[in-house]
Amino acid sequence: MQQSELDFINTLRQSTRYIEQHRGKTCVIYIPGEFMAEKQSVAQLCQDIGLLHNLGLKLVLAMGANQQLNEAFAAENFAEIYHQQFRITTTEMIPCFQKTIGLLRSQFEASFSQANSHQPNPPTLVSGNWVVAQPKGVVEGIDFQHTGKLRKIQHKAISDCLESGQVALLTPIAYSLTGEVFNLNTLEQACQIAATIEADKLMIYGSESQLKGLAKQMSLPQLKQLKADNIEQQQLIEQISVLQNKVKRIHLIAQIDPSALLLELFTRDGVGSMIFSDRYHQLRAAQIDDVCGILSLIEPLEQSGVLVKRSRERLELEIENFSVIQRDDLIIGCAALYASGNDMAELACLAVSKEYQGQELGFELLKHLEQQAKQLGYKTLFLLTTHTHHWFIEHGFVLGDISMLPDEKQSLYNYQRQSKVLVKPLS
Ligand SMILES: CC(C)(COP(=O)(O)OP(=O)(O)OC[C@H]1O[C@@H](n2cnc3c(N)ncnc32)[C@H](O)[C@@H]1OP(=O)(O)O)[C@@H](O)C(=O)NCCC(=O)NCCS
Repeated sequence: MQQSELDFINTLRQSTRYIEQHRGKTCVIYIPGEFMAEKQSVAQLCQDIGLLHNLGLKLVLAMGANQQLNEAFAAENFAEIYHQQFRITTTEMIPCFQKTIGLLRSQFEASFSQANSHQPNPPTLVSGNWVVAQPKGVVEGIDFQHTGKLRKIQHKAISDCLESGQVALLTPIAYSLTGEVFNLNTLEQACQIAATIEADKLMIYGSESQLKGLAKQMSLPQLKQLKADNIEQQQLIEQISVLQNKVKRIHLIAQIDPSALLLELFTRDGVGSMIFSDRYHQLRAAQIDDVCGILSLIEPLEQSGVLVKRSRERLELEIENFSVIQRDDLIIGCAALYASGNDMAELACLAVSKEYQGQELGFELLKHLEQQAKQLGYKTLFLLTTHTHHWFIEHGFVLGDISMLPDEKQSLYNYQRQSKVLVKPLS
């Protein structure tokens, strides 16, 4: 068998658990106008949407059109008037607005039809007047005119559409109960619809500046406390923050990479940043006050021989090497990173409280330490374990031998304990 075939089979096997996890789940996907401007990316995305639909996901697409509207308004010599970062859409602009959105939607429907034409039962794309708009009004003396805000979502109609196996498409156009046309921010719509229908996932394609420096995983409170790098990121954080705990997972992925959607959903490490609101815990650097909590977590594991014994004094001295996961007042997870020779760092003392195992907290700690080691410039992570080598292999480590360890570790190796050596390059 050729390497490419082996790789394909391995990838398919590894994605099985995610296919199972996502089946039947509702996912809102925000596609910004900049993404919509790239024909190739749109064609790829349409194919991937068809694939996700076939894998049983219920999909709502929110199509942005900022770039297209900027171009269309400029072509008709409309002045660009913004207030509080929102475009003011005047009455004169409405025909151009409707034409631009109508054309973009039609182009998207055409791409979608073509991308899924080979399927025996191709998915259908449906859009409608699901969002009731109202005027944004006069703010600080400035009349926003036809720039509106969301008043109500016909969520039952959207849910019915998803239940009947169709893909829902939202655009920036929405109507008031008096029949007026409004221009609505699509990201705002995507967030509010995700919250209203309590979507399992909200996937947001973002620009480089919006995603700059974001950690791979964050809780919603961590995101809210983040000091934004720039104004676009600040706006994104503000819009996501309104979701509170209504959407379990929010994924931020790069709009320059159309494959990011599938990679984020079906690979272990993903490619974007995941914000979770379904777990209330904090992953942070350990402090001296955490020694008691860490000891009560690791003592049973030391007694059963899973972890090497650490005295309280040693733990106190080495507390700066530890990271912990805290839930309420309880330390429910810990792990430590130690500098070693040959550009290698050692991961040690990874433990998650029994009651909280199986929620990927161990994985979260591992990812955190990997990121920390990378930032410190280490090239390889290694560890010694007697009971847990399979778990680490499933998380990208490979079995090594004692000769791969830094010299001082080799001389301290406990031959009685016969720990397995595991290594992972930090590329
Ligand atoms: C290893 C450990 C940290 C994983 O924490 P976790 O938060 O449960 O990890 P995740 O949720 O990311 O992974 C859970 C999966 O790992 C599996 N797993 C747990 N321990 C395992 C082991 N020793 N070998 C193989 N798989 C294991 C679970 O069965 C579960 O599998 P599933 O998803 O198919 O149900 C945790 O089990 C633990 O504290 N173990 C005892 C301490 C230990 O062995 N530490 C490592 C020594 S350095």
